[in-house]
Amino acid sequence: MDEAATRDLLVSLAASLFARGFSVGSAGNISVRLDDGYLMTPTNSSLGRLDAARLSKLGPDFRHLSGDAPSKEVFMHRAMYQARPECGAVVHLHSTMATAVSCLQDVDPGNPIPPLTPYFVMRVGRRMPIVPYYRPGDAAMEPAIHAAALNARAVLLANHGPVVGGKTLTDAVYAAEELEEAAKLFLLLRGANPRLLSGAAVDDLLATFAG
Ligand code: 13P
Repeated sequence: MDEAATRDLLVSLAASLFARGFSVGSAGNISVRLDDGYLMTPTNSSLGRLDAARLSKLGPDFRHLSGDAPSKEVFMHRAMYQARPECGAVVHLHSTMATAVSCLQDVDPGNPIPPLTPYFVMRVGRRMPIVPYYRPGDAAMEPAIHAAALNARAVLLANHGPVVGGKTLTDAVYAAEELEEAAKLFLLLRGANPRLLSGAAVDDLLATFAG
């Protein structure tokens, strides 16, 4: 896909996320890898009203080249790309259910959401660790995200929200949507005793739908 088409796809996927309430106000940011660098949503922009021509263009070293000033979370995205060579896009949201899970104290910080459904496992993977709280825009979170992302396609920033990688922009958006749905199911089923997917079922999903 050429850069113009990638810009248009990013704008339309972001608008779709915003329209369905996956982000509000100016929350969230999205990036995608290009042959010669990255496109990123500008800082303080609304995912609902992006302008394809004004997206931030970054070089391969993540330095700002053109367009509006990039998200203050550039290093959050860089951590994902550098930890996961297959990663071609990153979506960060403050989506409500995933963020609610990120605030819970009595969950396993290594993997707070158990394998409830196949699509969560297929899109997000075997685990999604929680990274401790850092102020938004605090570059100190980069090594923590990098370390967590070495073993996970998505991480959950405590009291903040998810950071999700994908091979493509569409993959990353689908994974962010599945994560939010899984978080909703997890919260709906708290206090119940749900049947989880077995370890064998999880292995089978990951072998069949290699992520
Ligand atoms: P930016 O507007 O700088 O992208 O920040 C939004 C956000 O989601 C912070 O975590």
